[in-house]
Amino acid sequence: MNQNRDPLEHLDRFAPLGQPAIVNRIGVLTSGGDAPGMNAAIRAVVRSALQHRMEIVGLRHGYRGLLQQEVQPLDSGSVGNLLQRGGTFLKTARVPEFHQAQVRARAAQSFRELKLDALVCIGGDGTFTGAHLLWLEHRVPVIGIPATIDNDLYGTESTIGFDSAVNTAVQAIDRIRDTADSHERLFIVEVMGRDSGFIALETGLACGAEEIFFSDSAVTVDQAIDHIRRGQKRGKLSSILITAEGRKPGRAYDLADQLQKKAGLEAKVCILGHTQRGGAPSAFDRVLAARMGASAVEALKRGYCDAMMSWTRGRIEAVSLTQVLAHRKKPPEEWVKLAQTLSS
Ligand code: F6P
Repeated sequence: MNQNRDPLEHLDRFAPLGQPAIVNRIGVLTSGGDAPGMNAAIRAVVRSALQHRMEIVGLRHGYRGLLQQEVQPLDSGSVGNLLQRGGTFLKTARVPEFHQAQVRARAAQSFRELKLDALVCIGGDGTFTGAHLLWLEHRVPVIGIPATIDNDLYGTESTIGFDSAVNTAVQAIDRIRDTADSHERLFIVEVMGRDSGFIALETGLACGAEEIFFSDSAVTVDQAIDHIRRGQKRGKLSSILITAEGRKPGRAYDLADQLQKKAGLEAKVCILGHTQRGGAPSAFDRVLAARMGASAVEALKRGYCDAMMSWTRGRIEAVSLTQVLAHRKKPPEEWVKLAQTLSS
């Protein structure tokens, strides 16, 4: 890998004829599900913009704030004492009407009325789909910062919030392990991640789960039963199975039903749910947010847009949103195999 390579070289500039555009006023928003580290990312964007003598305003409640012009002026002080807090002080929202072209046209109109030159959009795939369309349809310059606990965005090894969510799940499961062991019980723990298996797999590896279920893994209920039975023969009387909420077919309670029906195994179910979305961001997520936030502003200053900041082999790079949205990221196959080997 060439360390001197310009991480922005392959992106579209947004000024015609290659002239760097002048970005004087940026709007920043957080959209979709919140993720620990979003506040740290906003802080980095705000302070980096101010450093470059740009004006910066927050748009509250994601794209809803853009549509309704819910503007929050921001200065260095307004992002003080936030770095360590979960959630997003700019608030967030899911705005399904943003799928409609006429709603995006209204948003672009609002962008111009607010005299913004660019948007920094912090969120996940839904956020970036909206951002990419704002650029394609209305030439609104956008830069994305990936922040979702699901880690399901192509083009970056980690999204902001993923590491924190995994740590939260690991702490919870370590506690469950104590009670499972004391009572010699079988537990099924359901983690978030929508239809992607990153939280399930990484949490499972970190907790030594006996089996990990998610949509891209081939593990079957029969294999899990075999695994548990083999353990019982060796005197291992408690087990933890982890399942991703979006696993098809069925969620944790369906899995428990199947274990009961097929093998008479009693399982306790624990759904971790939104506990994984809250809490202080990990140190890793804070640093990732700082680096991505600063790079997003740098990218805009240099006249680039329609890109997502990415973390690749320790470097912050930029990947075009076209690339990000055209691919589905899957958990690495070797991790799945490793989890199976280590839990056997
Ligand atoms: O995308 C983040 C996420 O937490 C998913 O893991 C989960 O499926 C979803 O959001 C839940 O969304 P909501 O809080 O809107 O119900």
